[in-house]
Amino acid sequence: MATILIVDDELSIRKTLSMLLRAEGHAALEADGLESAAAALERNQVDLVVLDLRLGDASGMSLLAQIAASANPAESIVMTAYASIETAVEAMRLGAYDYLTKPINPDELMLRINKVLEKKSLREEVTRLREKLSGRDQLSQIVAGSPAMQGIIELVERIRNQDIPVLITGETGTGKEVIARAIHATSRRSRGPFIAVNCCALPEELLDSELFGHVKGAFTGATANMRGLFQRAHGGTLFLDEIGDISQRLQAKLLRVLQEGEVRPVGGESEVKVDVRVVVATNRDLDALVAEGSFRSDLLFRLNVLPIALPPLRERREDIALLVDHFLAQLRKSRGRSDLSLTAAAREMLLGYDWPGNVRQLENIIARSFALHTEPVLDAGDIALGPTPSGNGPREDETRLRLADVETRHIRRVLVAHGGNQVVAARVLGISRSTLRRKLDEAG
Ligand SMILES: Nc1ncnc2c1ncn2[C@@H]1O[C@H](COP(=O)(O)OP(=O)(O)OP(=O)(O)O)[C@@H](O)[C@H]1O
Ligand SMILES: [Mg+2]
Repeated sequence: MATILIVDDELSIRKTLSMLLRAEGHAALEADGLESAAAALERNQVDLVVLDLRLGDASGMSLLAQIAASANPAESIVMTAYASIETAVEAMRLGAYDYLTKPINPDELMLRINKVLEKKSLREEVTRLREKLSGRDQLSQIVAGSPAMQGIIELVERIRNQDIPVLITGETGTGKEVIARAIHATSRRSRGPFIAVNCCALPEELLDSELFGHVKGAFTGATANMRGLFQRAHGGTLFLDEIGDISQRLQAKLLRVLQEGEVRPVGGESEVKVDVRVVVATNRDLDALVAEGSFRSDLLFRLNVLPIALPPLRERREDIALLVDHFLAQLRKSRGRSDLSLTAAAREMLLGYDWPGNVRQLENIIARSFALHTEPVLDAGDIALGPTPSGNGPREDETRLRLADVETRHIRRVLVAHGGNQVVAARVLGISRSTLRRKLDEAG
């Protein structure tokens, strides 16, 4: 049995779906818009959100971002009124698991729901097992053959009993979160919670109340007091990812936690003491951000006590072969197929590649190649590395885009697809023509 939240502005659809879900033994919650949906998510441990992307004038997209950024994110399935596949694809980029076009076919819906719930419970099982591993076991799961990575592992072991903040830098996919988890798991806080939050997934006000909590009535929709992530991470570790992107105001609040060990909830009158180890990560150059004035130098100074710089994979090539074996072994185990392997030519190709997306890209390419081919031994031709990157810089990671940028891009794409006709584009996008105009103006 799962708790499922239905978000739709049409009463009849909410009623039909919740009847259907209850008949299947699930608990169904209903929300008619973004505000009530956010409130329901706050008050309940929701497993799955079934979300209409068009809620009157509002878009369900912003709710997806909010879900994705929460500590234990619910799964989501979106519904679109039109067969507007592009919108659905954008939604899936924002973390939605699946989409359905209206009118909803009940059998189809139940099928998808069961699939996503199955996936969620598998994932939770993995997390539970992983949490059972001791810190040392966790460290041993990290592939570190190169001197640079060995140095980092030694450092993590050395600082196990020190409660100082850690700043982890590195391009996307280099393993920043892996190291953050290892720091927690090896420390004396390992029995406390580890909470990860992606700071750029939420607009500033939401991130503020998410991190520091809020008191009832602090803003519209704040219907009850809510403890922030700092309080929920009490006794454990809070991992703040993409720290380079937070606003000046939040930088000041963060500095205060680091200095005083206390937080003030949004709208609150007083400070609350918290005992939290802060680990932050960024793939941006904080020194440069300080130089241009968008990041506080005193905050960087506080965070920089213990910097860990993860080198890009192309600068620690010894690790590539080890990682290939590591991910192959994982695949063999999870598929129960001991015959999976690569020809010498395939291996050579992987070893020679530049890996702009670093370890994550390597992991994905191996998994994808074996998913796309049925034969157990893959040759160089079976592996699609994608276009060779032009530069050496990090490639754009679409899971890190700002919502506004995704929106602008999508609007452009729809406009181009319909020959620049704003009336048609507005209809496809499900917004009024004046809203479209405004958005185009804002995007310049
Ligand atoms: N040294 C390693 N050994 C084994 N697996 C690794 C290693 N480094 C990274 N990975 C795997 O690669 C993937 C990406 O790692 P992770 O999420 O930590 O990267 P990241 O630096 O946080 O990326 P981003 O900046 O995009 O958030 C994960 O699946 C992780 O398990
Ligand atoms: Mg990360």
